[in-house]
Amino acid sequence: MITSDLLNRAVETLRRGGVIALPTETVYGLAANCEDELAVRRVFAIKGRPATHPLIVHVARASELPSWARHVPEEAWRLAESFWPGPLTLVLPRTARATDAVTGGQDTVALRVPNHPVALAVLDALGGGVAAPSANRFGRVSPTSAEHVRADLGDEVDLILDGGPCTVGVESTIVDLSGKEPAVLRPGGLAVEELERVLGRKVPVRTSATVRVSGSLASHYAPRAGVVLSEPADVGARVTSLRARGHNVGVLGPPGLTLPPGVPRYDVPEDPAGAARALYTRLREADEQGHDVLVACLPRAEGLGIAVRDRLSRAAAPRPAGG
Ligand code: TXA
Ligand code: MG
Repeated sequence: MITSDLLNRAVETLRRGGVIALPTETVYGLAANCEDELAVRRVFAIKGRPATHPLIVHVARASELPSWARHVPEEAWRLAESFWPGPLTLVLPRTARATDAVTGGQDTVALRVPNHPVALAVLDALGGGVAAPSANRFGRVSPTSAEHVRADLGDEVDLILDGGPCTVGVESTIVDLSGKEPAVLRPGGLAVEELERVLGRKVPVRTSATVRVSGSLASHYAPRAGVVLSEPADVGARVTSLRARGHNVGVLGPPGLTLPPGVPRYDVPEDPAGAARALYTRLREADEQGHDVLVACLPRAEGLGIAVRDRLSRAAAPRPAGG
């Protein structure tokens, strides 16, 4: 935890319209009081994110849902009860308290109760909602430690709260409950199988919806190096052929891969939850070594492996020129 002095400073900073970096269990957030339009605009400016992309409103507890959502279906209560605080975001029809600045003018609002003692203490003391996108520049790798935030945005935030490394490591799972049927808009730190177990039905993953989910742009979560995806059995051959073409190659993957001698490997464990926890840190470490290509080993497509595969695919997608 942090000292009560630091907690007070954080809350005062938010009250006077400042922007702070806040630890959560998924990734660090760039946090502003979501009822302060100027502060929210500053979050968009710092990230370099288009203002039409909506933000998640973080609250201290599920009982605050009705003040932000004008209709809270029974399935939302059930998910909140099972998984909050935790890596789950619910999209619901908004009340007027969720402003256009936060929702990007959409008729819905995204809400989540994060599972981190520092975030919960700040939200509780503030007594309101905090808009917090991941504390990285738009399109880049999300931060999973205070050090990552310092490296990316150090000078531009008013305060960085250090809550240690994130225990989940990928962003929350976003579930849209504003339509007739629930749908996953972004696979994340809560396994889709878990959602389905609690809802007692299949929940389709619809990552290319018409809503503006920036994490669902094809090219996102990208390091500077190019990323090439590979099944574990093919990694060695991929590396050999890339090296033959003159590339400086690094590998992201578990121990036990058959690799040509001298190829640096950045450890991303085989088990899906371990892979999620390590992914962004290893992407950053590999990027610092100046590789021009990273061959990323795909984890099994189950549990958090679905989120890891999603992020790796987006990191591997072709980027717009200059991006
Ligand atoms: O784990 C997380 O969710 C982290 C931590 C800091 O809580 N936050 C995060 O925020 O990932 P951000 O802004 O990077 O991603 C929020 C996603 C965006 O892709 C956004 O488009 C989507 O949530 N979103 C927000 N409001 C929405 C809405 N009303 N309908 C659909 N998608 C929405
Ligand atoms: Mg993000």
